[in-house]
Amino acid sequence: MFDTLPGFRDFPPEACSRRNHLFRVFRTVARAFDFKEYDAPVLEPLDLYVEKSGAEIVGQLFHFEDKGNRQVALRPELTPTLARMVAARANSLPKPIKWFNVGEHFRYERPQKGRGRSFYQFNADLLGESAIAADAELIALLVAIFETLGLGVQDFKIRLSDRNTWIFLLEELGVSEEIRPAVLNAIDKSERRKPEQTIESLEETMPGKGEFLWDKIQEIKKIDSLDTLIARLKSGTQKADNIIQDWQNITDLLKAHGADSYITIDLSIVRGLAYYTGFVYEAFEASGKGRALAGGGRYDHLLKKLSGNVDMPACGFAIGDMTLSDCLESKGLLPQYVMAPDLYLIAGEEEKKHGISLVSKARKGGFSTAYSLKSCGFGKQFKDAGKSGARYALILGSKELETQNVKIKDLRNASETTVPQKSLLAKLEEFDTEGGIQSA
Ligand code: HAM
Repeated sequence: MFDTLPGFRDFPPEACSRRNHLFRVFRTVARAFDFKEYDAPVLEPLDLYVEKSGAEIVGQLFHFEDKGNRQVALRPELTPTLARMVAARANSLPKPIKWFNVGEHFRYERPQKGRGRSFYQFNADLLGESAIAADAELIALLVAIFETLGLGVQDFKIRLSDRNTWIFLLEELGVSEEIRPAVLNAIDKSERRKPEQTIESLEETMPGKGEFLWDKIQEIKKIDSLDTLIARLKSGTQKADNIIQDWQNITDLLKAHGADSYITIDLSIVRGLAYYTGFVYEAFEASGKGRALAGGGRYDHLLKKLSGNVDMPACGFAIGDMTLSDCLESKGLLPQYVMAPDLYLIAGEEEKKHGISLVSKARKGGFSTAYSLKSCGFGKQFKDAGKSGARYALILGSKELETQNVKIKDLRNASETTVPQKSLLAKLEEFDTEGGIQSA
């Protein structure tokens, strides 16, 4: 016997239909926000991720040499791929570009609750627009998706932070541009590390200043309201005033979208990926327990870094399917699926072939229809129809065949109607509009 590899999942029909429920909501809500679906390869050149995604993700890559001696990697995320795709078509695409994708991703992480080595993400990105309205539009989309799945203010929170604010405050503390990525990385990791480890990393980056920086960083990480943030930024310089203006702007826009009740300002979020440049955020269960449900932010320089010549502002986020499914399941918000066919044909030996032509007609009409593939008596067929969970049996015996009729039996209450075969579809549609037929 072979098992799945660690961190990989099988999706038997019930699990698949639960997953498809998420995908359906992702697609419907993204379309309502006028985002267009795109797709891309799951295997990419290794170099696409080295440096662009940051050290943490590079350490988690599934990578190998292909038969053409190319260094390749299974995609751990979609953002570098999207940046490459858009940069290659930058001149021909009308702006703003609002694209989404639902697809599989791979990271060699330690499998644990909410973390796998293969997982699905819904990615939504908005490119070609530097206005904060774009960041707000994305956060509103994230909120609308969670609301459509049945989650409310008591269930999830979006922790909003800003890399520009961090950069400004770090500059005040003497952190120069060259060491900034290492410091931001240490701040991101500090959420999951002992303080001594963070101090050690900071000390390596800024010798003699590790402890001092850590004290200041802890103060900043505690900022959790617009008022404390404004007080800390100290209005008066152009830079500080611009940052305050951006915060006020996004707060007002999120209010207009009706998303403000889900937002908490939380400077402890900096995001692990290297390319973020502005507002960043992560969604968590309101209890604060568990890994992030989603994460994203602005990445204005990634296209330029990848393409060399296309400079285009961009922002986006991704929702992961694993933590989200766990969250929905714990709140009883994953629907039970009817996996049964609508109809089950029950026919005599002689009438079977004609019955199959009725099956074919019903299927073309959109009704999921099953029948016994083996030849067997009426009794066994009735038993199988019951087991299948079908709502109606289509019964075709010698009498029905002779009179060109077919009997429709409601398997829930045993009531029967005989209809001419030529009006079968019309009759089924009538039942359907009355709510009698529920397809999976
Ligand atoms: P990320 O924060 O690395 O961002 O991943 C987004 C979400 O994917 C996480 O919040 C989590 O739900 C899910 N996820 C990540 N790794 C795993 C894993 N090993 N197992 C299960 N779920 C996982 C990004 O990937 C960015 N590219 C998002 C983005 C799009 N930024 C801009 N546009």
